[in-house]
Amino acid sequence: MKLSSLLSLATKVAAVTISVSKDGGKDASRLQYGLMFEEINFSGDGGIYAELIRNRAFQGDEFTPSTLDPWTAFGPADILLSYLTTPLSSALPTSVAVKGKVGEEIGISNPGYCGIDVLPQTYKGSFWVFGDYRGDFKVALRSASSGEILTSVNIPSHSNTHAWTKHEFVLDSNITAGYKTNFTLTFVAKSSRQVLNFNLISLFPPTYNNRENGLRRDLMQSLKDLNPSFMRIPGGNNLQGEVPGSRWKWNEIIGDLVDRPGRTGAWRYYNTDGLGLIEYMLSGQWYQELEVEPVLILWAGLYLDGTVIPEDGLDFYVQDALHEVEFLTGDASTEYGAKRAALATKHPLK
Ligand SMILES: *[C@@H]1O[C@H](CO)[C@@H](O)[C@H](O)[C@H]1NC(C)=O
Ligand SMILES: *[C@@H]1O[C@H](CO)[C@@H](O)[C@H](O)[C@H]1NC(C)=O
Ligand SMILES: *[C@@H]1O[C@H](CO)[C@@H](O)[C@H](O)[C@H]1NC(C)=O
Repeated sequence: MKLSSLLSLATKVAAVTISVSKDGGKDASRLQYGLMFEEINFSGDGGIYAELIRNRAFQGDEFTPSTLDPWTAFGPADILLSYLTTPLSSALPTSVAVKGKVGEEIGISNPGYCGIDVLPQTYKGSFWVFGDYRGDFKVALRSASSGEILTSVNIPSHSNTHAWTKHEFVLDSNITAGYKTNFTLTFVAKSSRQVLNFNLISLFPPTYNNRENGLRRDLMQSLKDLNPSFMRIPGGNNLQGEVPGSRWKWNEIIGDLVDRPGRTGAWRYYNTDGLGLIEYMLSGQWYQELEVEPVLILWAGLYLDGTVIPEDGLDFYVQDALHEVEFLTGDASTEYGAKRAALATKHPLK
């Protein structure tokens, strides 16, 4: 029927009275109104995942080469990507090598995703170093225009010639200075031949409920205020992957950050996978704190470039999905439930 005749019919229909009974009727699902999360437009990295440093671990894969972008050299320094024979981990094989003028403060600078908000609060961070250095490292947040230090901390080095060492720090700010800020990590070069390598350089503001590797407070509060009943994760095209091999792999986004390689996302940027399956589901961070029902999405055998896994090749993926479900729900006597139980001691529930 044409819209015009439908409208003229509608005007001829007399008023209808509807009375609604208080009981009876059918049970409706409790899960009609909720959230769907997909890593898109930096909704995770640079979004709800509170990490402030962009490209913190020079991650890359066969589809996306590692890059220094957006890091720049600080002071009279040369910086380049390096692939040491002793990588930080097999998941994070690429680091940044820094060398420069003796006696000068040199290092690396990072502008964050959309800037780094400086507020009166305590930031927590860490970085890994390879190479011998006696002295202090300095971490600072500086005005991106003038370079003026807004807050800084010195961290005594306990680095080593032959091994990677982790350095942790706390950075206190007592000022509000806006977003136009660079993070810098510097040291004073002791010799012109000295090269230090850095990797997994991380900085977090206070997170929702003060979780390690946590989520942004303001965005979590906004989600909570929506009063959702479920959360569907992970989302859409980004789960599928663009080309064969690039699907979302649950077993690569659990465990320590040094063991997460990240992946080429479907939305034209590399996913750090710092926001991984345990942050979604297990460490009490996301679905529990929102008090929503988790709805887990599984890969269906289709890549975005149109590649479809033929039916006789699906078994591997079906098993993989069953392993994932066992990882999330199986008890510690099951193979994958035991893996979760081992991780849960490191990432305790609330
Ligand atoms: C979000 O991402 C898509 C895909 O990369 C892009 O086409 C779109 O312009 C982005 N939107 C915004 C607001 O950045
Ligand atoms: C801050 O970082 C941006 C982007 O890397 C850079 O262009 C700018 O020169 C930096 N500011 C200072 C003062 O070094
Ligand atoms: C605030 O920071 C400035 C610069 O670091 C410092 O001089 C001052 O003592 C600090 N004030 C307080 C109350 O911590």
